[in-house]
Amino acid sequence: MSTVVIGTGLAGLACANQLLELNESVVLLDKTGTIGGNSSKASSGINGAHSTTQQELKVEDTADLFFGDTQKSAKGLGSPELMKKLAEDSHLAIEWLQKNFDLKLDVLAQLGGHSVARTHRSSGKLPPGFEIVSTLSKRLKEVAESNPERCKILLNSTVVDVKLGEGKQITGVVYKDESGKENTLETNNVVFCTGGFGFSKEMLKKYAPECVDLPTTNGPHTTGDGQRLLETLGADLIDMTHIQVHPTGFVDPADPDSGSKFLAAEALRGHGGILLNPITGKRFVNELTTRDVVTEAIQSQCPKDKNNAYLVMGEGIYEVYKNNLDFYMFKKLVKKVTIKEFVEESKLPISAEDLAKDLATYNTASADEFGRSLVTRNFGDNITPETNIFVGQVTPVVHFTMGGAKIDTNAAVLDKNGNPLAKGLYAAGEVSGGVHGANRLGGSSLLECVVYGRTAAKCIAQKGGARL
Ligand code: FAD
Ligand code: SIN
Repeated sequence: MSTVVIGTGLAGLACANQLLELNESVVLLDKTGTIGGNSSKASSGINGAHSTTQQELKVEDTADLFFGDTQKSAKGLGSPELMKKLAEDSHLAIEWLQKNFDLKLDVLAQLGGHSVARTHRSSGKLPPGFEIVSTLSKRLKEVAESNPERCKILLNSTVVDVKLGEGKQITGVVYKDESGKENTLETNNVVFCTGGFGFSKEMLKKYAPECVDLPTTNGPHTTGDGQRLLETLGADLIDMTHIQVHPTGFVDPADPDSGSKFLAAEALRGHGGILLNPITGKRFVNELTTRDVVTEAIQSQCPKDKNNAYLVMGEGIYEVYKNNLDFYMFKKLVKKVTIKEFVEESKLPISAEDLAKDLATYNTASADEFGRSLVTRNFGDNITPETNIFVGQVTPVVHFTMGGAKIDTNAAVLDKNGNPLAKGLYAAGEVSGGVHGANRLGGSSLLECVVYGRTAAKCIAQKGGARL
């Protein structure tokens, strides 16, 4: 019997590929008609500590440093064991993607709350989530075509139930196909990779009512099906009230009230972008502290009715982030303007000369007034009102749900007593809880998908899973 993997985001794709590498067979199900989930939207990259890329770029990093950053961001919540494994296995995750899938992952960004630059993406045209998802899914599709006994991909297939037999052994998965007909797949191993619940107003109302009215970056599939199903089976859901509100979703000037927003990737700040308060025309926060802190600063200090700030970037950013910026400009979310044009159009309460001076001071000061890392400054020399900048309007958005089904370091789903809930029941990716505590660090979600998706696959194979 094949292992059933539910969800074709990165957690599902990593798990399925690892199963194939270990000579296991797999059936992959997704309720949508496309592969990739939220993973394909990822725009900043994937974390790794002490990776080959970091060593080549002379960035000193260790798993301990990454673990420390993760624990600090988690604020005492979550599971330190899961965080430790995440950090320790992070370089292996990057190397697996580089060696087994030829992904370059040769560019680094320093995101909020990280001590060093450790968020990897590839130089080239494709954004990281899309590049990784399309590469890993291509491999699966090839196997599915050449050997359907080893790999099947069933799209438009919504999982509605999981069957448990004697001795709490998984025996099957029930899904509805496109016609609404229920089908059962017999299996002894199921891996939930169904993502988060950021799009579900119902679940946000239940767990974090303060977030219900916020816009989101999440796709409509992000409705917490896995968390709900696993809870019914008896799983321990943890940290469910902890929703990551990302500080920078783009406000589309043509549709400012839309509930769905494109993300202004944190790498835009990581490569030098700053935030200005529309009320004062000044910076107001260390833009590279953790997301919860930046979000709180926008919500408490920027215009209350709109929650908007300006994301302002120097021309230098275009060299390192050209493709993303071209996309944002194509969508009219970012404009290239002079400082003078920006001040006039946005009616900032300061003069273009003063803003140019502020940017020059920011760029050259020996210490940052908000404690931001100095290596990320890039507004260039000789800043005047005629200097070009890139500008977009941003607002906080529901982005990621930290809570989910508690797992152990084998990715086994746990019951409320901390024991594996059933034989053959695993979860990986955003559906699981405990890996990030109160606040996830940017770049750690793609990483958890790879680390825990592969872990689930290895445990299944070790226990004599479903070898052909
Ligand atoms: P998903 O990728 O969301 O996949 C879940 C899949 O399960 C979906 O395809 C869904 O259709 C399917 N599914 C759900 N329920 C069922 C069901 N009942 N039956 C069958 N199928 C089902 N993280 C980073 O680390 N770095 C980044 O740069 C980054 N950028 C991001 C940018 C954006 C705009 C967003 C929204 C998120 C970003 N994240 C980033 C977060 C990260 O992309 C996701 O949290 C992560 O990829 C989740 O992966 P997953 O595999 O757990 O879930
Ligand atoms: C971003 O690009 O800002 C998102 C990164 C993440 O959520 O990890």
